[in-house]
Amino acid sequence: MQLDINGLSPAAFLAQYWQKKPLVIRQGFKHFQDLVTPEELAGLAMDELVESRRVYQQAGQWHAEFGPFDSYETLGERDWTLIVQALNNWLPDAEALIQCFDFIPRWRFDDVMVSYATPGGGVGPHIDLYDVFICQGSGRRRWRVGDRGPHREFAAHPALLHTEAFEPIIDVELLPGDILYIPPGFPHDGITLEESLSFSVGYRTASAKDMVGALADHLAEHDLGAQQIEDPDRALSTRSGCVDDRDLTRLRTQLTAMLNDELVSEFSGRYLTQSKCALDLPDEPLEISSDEVLFWLDKQPLIRLGGLRCLYFDLTVAKGTVFIHGERYQLPVALAGLIPALCDMSQLDKATLAPWLTDAAALTQLTEWVNLGYWYFEELSEE
Ligand code: SIN
Ligand code: CO
Repeated sequence: MQLDINGLSPAAFLAQYWQKKPLVIRQGFKHFQDLVTPEELAGLAMDELVESRRVYQQAGQWHAEFGPFDSYETLGERDWTLIVQALNNWLPDAEALIQCFDFIPRWRFDDVMVSYATPGGGVGPHIDLYDVFICQGSGRRRWRVGDRGPHREFAAHPALLHTEAFEPIIDVELLPGDILYIPPGFPHDGITLEESLSFSVGYRTASAKDMVGALADHLAEHDLGAQQIEDPDRALSTRSGCVDDRDLTRLRTQLTAMLNDELVSEFSGRYLTQSKCALDLPDEPLEISSDEVLFWLDKQPLIRLGGLRCLYFDLTVAKGTVFIHGERYQLPVALAGLIPALCDMSQLDKATLAPWLTDAAALTQLTEWVNLGYWYFEELSEE
């Protein structure tokens, strides 16, 4: 699968469009193949672990329902959409699509959302908080995108935030293989012209508000940041009711001094690797021995579980620090070189792992992750 951004280099795309303005990418993918069929999608939406939604209009009224769904009989042949979030958590083939966008790092990546729509179907005009590459699969869809600006938002249904009519700056029909990039804040509306599948590769960051809230929990949990605000250099005060500018600076400086790179990386490594949607993890840890891991590695690579979030920081990777699925793992310094392989690659074959396989600590750690289901052997999982 190869992405062509209208002949632009990824660096030029980032400089000119990313987070700045929408872009229609004609034939971004030549011969694009749907990642799922509508029937497979309907099957996924029957699973209670899979997050799914149906949106439709009836008699001019918008409706939204949350899965699992086992029947579509009442919906008829028109004007409805089925959306499945985090397709990549359940479908290993989605990894190839995400890799096309790996010029943006995975910590920014959210999920691949798939939308199946019948003619007339769509979710209505709305604004998203995330960057999205909407990759058109089978069928045709008309997309209108408006400019950023003040747009009044309202609940068309308790679960559906819409925006009022907007003047389009883009009005296009997307054909299979076309892509529409939309940054946060641009209102948009997609209406299906004929039965359609689209695959949205979405990127999201947290708000400062959410991160500060979670940071406070992190401080409490790890008993950090307990130092008192200090003022040994206090000057004489003549206004007893006033926090003067010097004191205000003192408060801000001492608060922000706590937010050093070490704390921010420790906290955000955990925070950014938490998964919002369920992963296809075993109910109980598996019981695979280190010898079995070695045995299977001779025959096939270890595959990183779809949707598993893992990352490292330039700041701490050489010390052996890696964050996986909301946890920090502290590896021996001698194993630090293994970390980029874990986090940058979706598969680990024997040749890649060879430098570490003779190390007992590395093998034990890998085996623990295999037993947690974080990395898996395809053949074993099919047994
Ligand atoms: C859809 O694919 O139906 C909706 C995608 C979006 O506009 O966010
Ligand atoms: Co949207």
